[in-house]
Amino acid sequence: MEFQYLVIARALHVVAVVLWIGGVAFVATVLIPAIRNAKTTDNKLHLFEMLESKFSLQAKLTTLITGLSGFYMLYAMNLWSTMHWWIYTMLLIWAIFTLVLFVLEPWFLHKWFHQQALKNSDKAFYYLQLMHTILLTVSLLVIFAGVAGAHGLFY
Ligand code: HEM
Repeated sequence: MEFQYLVIARALHVVAVVLWIGGVAFVATVLIPAIRNAKTTDNKLHLFEMLESKFSLQAKLTTLITGLSGFYMLYAMNLWSTMHWWIYTMLLIWAIFTLVLFVLEPWFLHKWFHQQALKNSDKAFYYLQLMHTILLTVSLLVIFAGVAGAHGLFY
């Protein structure tokens, strides 16, 4: 029975990662570039805040499911003391997103970005896209390393 739970946790882990990082990919490669073409600062901010707020709940839920299923797998496979380097990369990217979504954004990041966009919207949206692109690139490398590692490439 424990084995079946492990397989379910792995499947949930992958589904959550697909939905979450797929959303980040959409924001970084479609949403922000399209918004950067909007005519006025007000338009850009309004569009971004309206659309991102819709993704925010999805990002929080999928981050939570990824973390719960990941920690469950570590426990069920008793991997705590023998974790490979590619599992540390998952933990790192998960911790960064968790910090941003659950702490930094509600605390000050949202307000700070709003102010920066009012001051100089081109610059603010340029850096927003850059940050999302960096996080997306690192996440894709982590996914590559995760699948390759779990299926034996690094043994
Ligand atoms: C708290 C955070 C996380 C923990 C504890 C965790 C843990 C794990 C564990 C234990 C495995 C199975 C390894 C094995 O079979 O030897 C795994 C697989 C995997 N994880 Fe994570 N993970 C976390 C976050 C992430 C994140 C953020 C991503 C992607 C951005 C990710 C992507 C993957 C992928 C793609 C696999 C391979 C699935 C497969 O092909 O079977 N994980 N994770």
